[in-house]
Amino acid sequence: MAERRKLIAGNWKMNGLKADGLELASDLAGRLKGAGAVAFDMLVCPPFPLLFPVGEAITDSPLALGGQDCAPKLSGAHTGDVSPQMLKDAGCSFVILGHSERRQDHGETDAAVKAKAEAAIGQGLVAIICVGETEAQREAGQAEAVVGAQVAGSLPAGANAATVVIAYEPVWAIGTGKTATPADVAAMHGFIRAELAKALGDADAVRILYGGSVKPGNAAELMSTADVDGALVGGASLKADDFWAIGTSCR
Ligand code: 13P
Repeated sequence: MAERRKLIAGNWKMNGLKADGLELASDLAGRLKGAGAVAFDMLVCPPFPLLFPVGEAITDSPLALGGQDCAPKLSGAHTGDVSPQMLKDAGCSFVILGHSERRQDHGETDAAVKAKAEAAIGQGLVAIICVGETEAQREAGQAEAVVGAQVAGSLPAGANAATVVIAYEPVWAIGTGKTATPADVAAMHGFIRAELAKALGDADAVRILYGGSVKPGNAAELMSTADVDGALVGGASLKADDFWAIGTSCR
């Protein structure tokens, strides 16, 4: 089986002003530097205006930087959009794409997510592609069908373990305090890996993150669940102690 190093990713969403972001990122960067060898990679994804200052504050640390979205184009007349080239320029190595909040609030389709992922990968960014079913879809027994279609529709041709990460985030678990059971998570991650194997040569090496109310208290169990290769963390990534505790729960 491929060795998959855990990725602990913080999605700050629309939270934090410059002083908060700098304090949080510098704190985490300092802990990572001081910790020496750890069993995880750590990533923060601040809002767009904070990317440059945060990027500059963490340049000499192993803490990675990512965007929360990008345009499918590199430049041009696209008011309000941010291109993957600009993310790269700010020091990003990752970008979150197709988060359920963007699929819901901005009507992003699988095809739109795929186009963004292609552009991001073309700029050397790793695309973290988010998938996940709603509570109604799970109750209707459609969770696998929904997630399978999202994976198939959002994954760019030619993607591989070096260019994509999948984040499974059941919509009903985001910000609600409800988490999927480890058994449900293992089943869905196994299903996603089997779907990836239909499209990619190295599906066994692709990291599949779990997201949805990950906290210090449930992280160790979730991170030791089969086929879980890290976490995409919202609320708990805004507190250095909590986010760090999620990282150090990885074995
Ligand atoms: P919470 O950790 O706040 O539930 O958010 C999860 C999420 O949406 C991360 O992208």
